[in-house]
Amino acid sequence: MKKMAIFASGNGSNFQVLIDAIRKGDLQAEVSLLVCDRPGAYVIERAVQEGVSQFVFQPKSYQDKADYETEILGFLKGLEVDLIVLAGYMRLIGPTLLQAYEGKIINIHPSLLPAFPGKDAIGQALAAGVSQTGATVHYVDAGMDTGEIIAQQSVEVLPGESRETLQDKIQQVEHELYPTVVKMLLNGMKEATPL
Ligand code: GAR
Repeated sequence: MKKMAIFASGNGSNFQVLIDAIRKGDLQAEVSLLVCDRPGAYVIERAVQEGVSQFVFQPKSYQDKADYETEILGFLKGLEVDLIVLAGYMRLIGPTLLQAYEGKIINIHPSLLPAFPGKDAIGQALAAGVSQTGATVHYVDAGMDTGEIIAQQSVEVLPGESRETLQDKIQQVEHELYPTVVKMLLNGMKEATPL
């Protein structure tokens, strides 16, 4: 069975659709760990409900990124995780995890990258007045949303569109796209070799 760790900071709707896809049998995988950098985030409650182990931490209690990523790496090694799935994890991944999981960390971002990287991609799209935006799944590298693109799906921005309706439309697309891409990647992967 392929194993993944999901990293999230907030609501966790993408965490939930991945769990739901596994339950429905659409995804042959296991979510071995939720990593969350925001105590109190709703995604933690979801993990509790779903019986998924959690590592919840406060970055400011650590000396630096290498310090907490080393601790995370210890958990991931122990669990023999195949894939790290960032789902609304609002933090750059540092060299500790990037080197250990090269080509095995993916992210979902609410825009058609390379347009509108970074924070508030939906607000950026509305401010730019574009007629199309969307969602992108990409490999993670050291940059901000700069890694190789795996899949994208577009969403139309209607005249006078509100942030809420646009966000809803993008999330609907994300909830189809992410399980599909995770399934494709896991199918093409060998079981994790111990690090
Ligand atoms: C998602 O829309 C995801 O694309 C975005 O955060 C949201 C998390 O929603 N990620 C980024 O903006 C990363 N730069 P969720 O917590 O409901 O899955």
